[in-house]
Amino acid sequence: MKKRQFLRRLGQVALVTPFLPLSLNAQDDLSSLPYALDEEEFWLRIRKDYCLKPDYINLENGYYNFIPQPTMEKYIEHLKMVNYEASYYMRTDQWDNKARVRDRLAKLVGTTSEELIITRNTTESLDLIIGGYPWEKGDEAIFAKQDYGAMKDHFQLMSKKYGIINKVVSIPNHPESDEEIVSLYEAQITSRTKLMMVCHMVNITGQILPIRKLSNMAHTYGVEVLVDGAHCIGHFDVNLKELQCDYYGSSLHKWLSVPLGSGMLYVAKEKITKIWPLFADYNDATKEIQRLNHTGTIPVHTDLAIDDAIDYLELIGVNRKEKRLRYLQKYWSDQLREVKYINVNTPKEIERSCGIANVGIAHINPKDLAKNLLDEFKIFTVAIDYANVKGCRITPNVYTTKKELDVFVNAMKTLAQRV
Ligand SMILES: Cc1ncc(COP(=O)(O)O)c(C=O)c1O
Repeated sequence: MKKRQFLRRLGQVALVTPFLPLSLNAQDDLSSLPYALDEEEFWLRIRKDYCLKPDYINLENGYYNFIPQPTMEKYIEHLKMVNYEASYYMRTDQWDNKARVRDRLAKLVGTTSEELIITRNTTESLDLIIGGYPWEKGDEAIFAKQDYGAMKDHFQLMSKKYGIINKVVSIPNHPESDEEIVSLYEAQITSRTKLMMVCHMVNITGQILPIRKLSNMAHTYGVEVLVDGAHCIGHFDVNLKELQCDYYGSSLHKWLSVPLGSGMLYVAKEKITKIWPLFADYNDATKEIQRLNHTGTIPVHTDLAIDDAIDYLELIGVNRKEKRLRYLQKYWSDQLREVKYINVNTPKEIERSCGIANVGIAHINPKDLAKNLLDEFKIFTVAIDYANVKGCRITPNVYTTKKELDVFVNAMKTLAQRV
């Protein structure tokens, strides 16, 4: 990082948090760091912020992207503060604080707080739209076989409850072009199609879909677009306005590394009033997005930690993080793509993936592959065996080293040779 950039970033952190110094490592004084940290050295410093279990190499950061120590310390401070101020806090500062955090989150994702609410996770965000959509019997929805189970199940529930018809596409692991993907969805559209759900990043393969092109196509038919961005916020730079979708949900406890139970939902302003809230709210009569955000009493200290997680992301820099995650993925996947019996189930093109990819071995079923990797090589992954994807999902994080990935690459080559 250049000296000027580094200082600017520090300045940004100073502006947003009264609890300076927020540092790469709580006990370090950032101002004493060498300014031109070599890239690998920089990431080794980041690694020190993580409390890592020594039993295995964790290549499964896709479920929960656990939090670095600086965020953890702030989170505990918030928990203590809420417990100390108790009902006083809940009746006074709670709402202003939440609004402030929401504002900041909205800026991060390229929208405003008029179109964004904080939820508990992607499931809540997307099911709020699927379940709250004003369905009529015979309406049609489109989604993919490779989408997340809970959302597909919710569409099935709508089918039972309202008689909607679900059309299911299958996304190729190695598409030829964006147009191939767009045509897949377009071919399912009829005059009764109302809503199309699309993954921004397919969780089982890490494939990134061309959301803007899909949105533009759908809108020409008057079809609305709901995006599952569970794995995207904090993973790479997401600008909701550029994506042009109508609804977007994400889990902030994934790549933004907020403590568990944090998500967001974007609803384009003109769509807010058409969605039925999940829980009734006195705001129901208003046109504001808060009408969709009645939560009851929740762990409000988690909302506060969103601010700290954004501090940490901005300290690294979202573009630098994206570049690193893509680099780590390509570092291992490029070494395995051409190896006999090994199948990388994620596109090679740089714009079609980032930190996540999936890899299998032809003669080993995914469950056994995950077990072998853990038992023999102490590498923790997750097996995927459905929707044309057979392999283990490999999800490094910002603390992952190239040495760890070398262990993984060698393990895969060894296993592939055991025919
Ligand atoms: C693509 C996708 N959508 C939705 C979800 C659900 O996320 P959550 O359990 O945080 O609600 C996940 C979880 O891994 C996912 O991968």
